[in-house]
Parts: sequence; structure tokens; C-alpha cells
Amino acid sequence: NKKTSDSGKESAGVAAAGLVEDGMIIGLGTGSTTAYAISEVGKRINEEELDVQAVVTSYQSEMLAIDAGIPLTSLSEHPELDLDIDGADQVDFELNAIKGGGAAHTKEKVVACSSKQFIAVIDESKLSDKLNHSVPVEVLPYSRNLVLQNMQNMGAEPEIRQAVHKDGPVITDNGNLIIDADFDVIENPNNLASELSAIPGIVEHGIFTGMIDEIYMGKKDGTFDKFK
Ligand code: A5P
Repeated sequence: NKKTSDSGKESAGVAAAGLVEDGMIIGLGTGSTTAYAISEVGKRINEEELDVQAVVTSYQSEMLAIDAGIPLTSLSEHPELDLDIDGADQVDFELNAIKGGGAAHTKEKVVACSSKQFIAVIDESKLSDKLNHSVPVEVLPYSRNLVLQNMQNMGAEPEIRQAVHKDGPVITDNGNLIIDADFDVIENPNNLASELSAIPGIVEHGIFTGMIDEIYMGKKDGTFDKFK
């Protein structure tokens, strides 16, 4: 059942929410693990009467934050955040990550890089010796064929992500497309990140290197490990 399979995500999310302190401006990522953190932060704000404001990374985290009673702010008002909590699709032991399974990685990267501290919340299934997850890439619709061709030349198998409850492609919160590109095992995430950033029309790719400060990894038994 969902409760059991999500217990790792819940313990990581709830534990990371414990890092929020009175007076902080925080970033809230996107996804099912972060959702547990958002709900716990809202609970703590209410019970402990904390003065905390949040910058969201997607319509999903905006809606969850409003439901949880978390006051919202923006990067325009607060360009520097104290703490960012966000999930990941895959993480290696050097704290490189692939994000964007929820198509929100562009704003997630901006928020992560605007924060003094970035905590990634995952369950055990996300940890991998080497990154080999397909890389989500947000792309201007106008440039999709150029990007697909460049990726094929790099040896990848790229596909435009298709929507589940709509005919046609996924459209991101920013009005763009997502291309998921399978590069097999990624031996050098920094190199791949630079190569992708150089392709015209790519808004942002989901490789996060040198950004995560600490991982909170929830386990099936409801406990969690943290490492940096
Ligand atoms: C959103 O685009 C992603 O970067 C998420 O952070 C990532 O997909 C993790 O989501 P889950 O916590 O739902 O696995």
C-alpha cells in the first residue's frame, strides 16, 4: 500500500522539515518526498508560531504550501534563501543528482542556487553508485528538433515527454517541453552538464552538480540516514 511504500520518503521529508528555524526564508522543491516536508513545515509554523516564509518551485509546491498555511514570498523580495528542501530522481555518493522527474527542475535549480543550504530528501531507491537515470531537459518548443539532433549526436536516446492525462506533450510550468534523454551510465556528470548547457534552446537540464549540501535518506523502517 501507498503508506508503506512511501515511508522512506515521509521520514526524509519530515526530518528535513526539522531544520527549519524561526525567521528563515526557505525554498520548497517539488515532488512526493518534498510534499511530506511541506506539510510538516506548515504544521510546525502553526504549532510553534514560527515566522517563516517560502519561495516555491512549481504550481504543485505553491498549492501544497498554501494548503499547509505557509506564507509565500518570492526571489524578487528575497534573493537569498536560508534553506532549500527538495527531492531528486537519482543521487550518487558524490552528491551529484538528476532531477526533473516532475518537470520542475529549472526553477528548482534557481532556488537551490539561491539558497545558503540545499538539503536533498530521498528514499533508498534513489541512491546509485553512478548516475544512469535519463536526464530531463526543459526545452523551448521552437528548438526541439535542434536539441533532439544534438542529443542523438551525443549518443543519447532522447524522447519528448508525453502527458498522461492530456493528448500530446507535457508542457512545463514555464510553457516549455521536456525531453528525457537516456545517456546510459554518466561517467562525468560535470562534462555532460556543460555539453547540454551549450546546446541552443535548452532552458535547463536536470543534472545538479556541486549544489547539494546534505542528503536526508529515509528508509523503509521509518528511520533516516544523513550524509554529506
Ligand atoms: C521535480 O521536477 C523533481 O526534480 C523532483 O524533485 C524529483 O522528481 C523527486 O520527486 P519524488 O520525491 O516524487 O520522487
